[in-house]
Amino acid sequence: MKLRIAFLVVAAVWTAGVTQSSLGAQAAGGRTVWDGVFTDAQATRGEEVYKSACSECHGADLNGDGFAPALTGAEFAGNWNELTVGDLFERIRISMPPTGPAGVTPAQKADIVAHVMKINKYPAGKTELEGKTDVLKQIKIVMKQ
Ligand code: HEC
Repeated sequence: MKLRIAFLVVAAVWTAGVTQSSLGAQAAGGRTVWDGVFTDAQATRGEEVYKSACSECHGADLNGDGFAPALTGAEFAGNWNELTVGDLFERIRISMPPTGPAGVTPAQKADIVAHVMKINKYPAGKTELEGKTDVLKQIKIVMKQ
């Protein structure tokens, strides 16, 4: 009899755990750049790094230079709509700046992405973007709210 009760308790805890984690996954999967996914302070830090490591090619206003693509406006929208913040972060992480991607840390690149988000007029929120591709892949880039 005692064993049977123990089994029921284990089963109930297991079921609660499964329900909770699938709800968590759903909430995370449903996040977009409109949900306040970076902070103002992070975007400000990112602006500084952007100025020293990126703006020489992508422009102080992120409009590109004809060779390096714009990171805002129609060009950015066309290239990144429906992809994720993780895709954008990963692109920067592995290839930018072209002369030495390792010269800017992943944390600094997350800050730069926050700056890019801010210039693209997505709202700031209370939590910072983490410098982790798999986490950022759960946030979708959509141009319209
Ligand atoms: C020396 C010039 C140069 C610098 C510095 C540079 N980039 Fe680039 N970037 C380019 C060029 C050229 C491309 C397009 C060709 C390519 O992918 O290599 C590009 C492509 C990109 C793309 C892909 C854009 C798209 O829509 O496909 C992103 C995002 C990007 N750069 C971000 C950055 C960030 C962030 C930094 C600073 C950490 C940076 N770049 C520094 C020249 C530069």
